Amino acid sequence: MTESDFGNIAIRPAVEEDFDFVVELMDSALSPYYGGDHRAHAERIFKTHISGGVDQLGFFSREQKMFVATVNNQPAGMIHVVGKRQCTYKISPLIVAETYRNTRGLGTLLLDHAEKYARDAKARQIYCTVAENNSSALGFFRAKGYIPAGKSASHYKTNITEVMLYKHFVDSDFESRFDRVNISVVPLGPSHEKQVRDLLLENLPPFFDGIDDDWVNSLFGGYERRDSQDINLKYKLIYVAVNRDNTVLGVAGATPKKGEPIKVMPFLATTLPAFVALLSDIPFLLKDFGRKLYIHIAPTSSETLALQQRGWNLDAVLPEAYHLGIVTEQWSSDLDNPNFMRQMRIKKTFLDLIRKGEKTLEVRVGYNNIRSITDGELIRLTTFHENQVIKVNQVRKYDSFAAMMEEEDFDRIAPGRSEEDVFSLLKDIYPPEKESLGVIVLDISPQRI
Ligand SMILES: CC(C)(COP(=O)(O)OP(=O)(O)OC[C@H]1O[C@@H](n2cnc3c(N)ncnc32)[C@H](O)[C@@H]1OP(=O)(O)O)[C@@H](O)C(=O)NCCC(=O)NCCS
Repeated sequence: MTESDFGNIAIRPAVEEDFDFVVELMDSALSPYYGGDHRAHAERIFKTHISGGVDQLGFFSREQKMFVATVNNQPAGMIHVVGKRQCTYKISPLIVAETYRNTRGLGTLLLDHAEKYARDAKARQIYCTVAENNSSALGFFRAKGYIPAGKSASHYKTNITEVMLYKHFVDSDFESRFDRVNISVVPLGPSHEKQVRDLLLENLPPFFDGIDDDWVNSLFGGYERRDSQDINLKYKLIYVAVNRDNTVLGVAGATPKKGEPIKVMPFLATTLPAFVALLSDIPFLLKDFGRKLYIHIAPTSSETLALQQRGWNLDAVLPEAYHLGIVTEQWSSDLDNPNFMRQMRIKKTFLDLIRKGEKTLEVRVGYNNIRSITDGELIRLTTFHENQVIKVNQVRKYDSFAAMMEEEDFDRIAPGRSEEDVFSLLKDIYPPEKESLGVIVLDISPQRI
């Protein structure tokens, strides 16, 4: 139980005495958005919970659990979750009584409780659906990190579109494996060409017919025409995702088109961190060349997650457009959006420290795109599955890590680590040729957006 300005707040499993409260709450909150008999539905799920949580009529359902939030021992909100045979949990529904909404954080407490319950049961993900015109609930779930997977028109009620949302649980092992590699996205250089050719010829043919040396030659030919910036010459911009040793792990080739969309083909990465690096970085790198980006790929499930988490839209599903037996999808990213901002990838441990206000300096090297960061800019920091907007209060530039360490407080770069540790951490990420581009220090603070 927590004591707050609003009284004692607690979350507990629903008990017999909650019956009337739950039926009333579900009936009043759900009727505007959904057809059907909400009282009968409430009665059914309540009784299932009270009698042990096993739904005798359920098909995929393995267990049902209902929790109630109380304020000074009075019921004030509820969440009902359904555990599925597929190791997922469905929230159905989450409701806070109207008088308690938006003030006491009850919705947050109930949701956190249900997520912990699902994680403890080793669920892979938790999901829900929300009517599109229920903007407060939709805003609430988005603010809690739920990702829209898509929408369905006239689904539970005629003329009401239902948005499907999910939160994927990523274990800390995955996160640390993902963060172990440092990937940079840089313009294609002569030293990458042979690797890019091999990468494309080896990995694209199972998904795209017509990939051969000539095709790669015409890709590189378009890149040679890049300075023309003439769309009629079909010039191309090519970026590669490289690791610390300059090994190419991914490539994105962009062709700006008439009407200002940019087709990104190829878009290929051989590792998930490289895929995510390209996906996160190319919108900002290409933003001056068009209004939107689109790619044609046949993504894996992790790649689909990464696309959805970064707000890319699924435009079209193209069976056998490029290869017999392969479904290619068109995904796009809007560059014209007023909320568009630069994304910067960061390791989860550092993101957590930034959120707590403990890490207030971010150090990078002077790639052209980093050099373009300005005082006051808002940037979205991203890990594999989280993001946080920060404000750059000031940009400071140095010739080397040693010069930077003389001026800056190392504890603001990597709190809790020694000066030597911070120094070797930076040296580890950036080899000397990258350090020689110059060292850029961003003085940052987290924003609530
Ligand atoms: C959705 C609902 C459960 C939220 O409960 P609540 O107790 O008001 O939520 P909280 O007070 O914990 O949190 C509100 C948070 O959501 C955020 N939020 C609310 N509306 C938002 C919006 N439109 N856009 C962005 N964020 C929004 C608030 O900023 C706040 O964030 P914070 O925790 O960082 O301060 C409540 O509005 C409700 O019962 N709605 C009706 C039932 C319903 O439609 N349920 C969904 C179907 S399952």
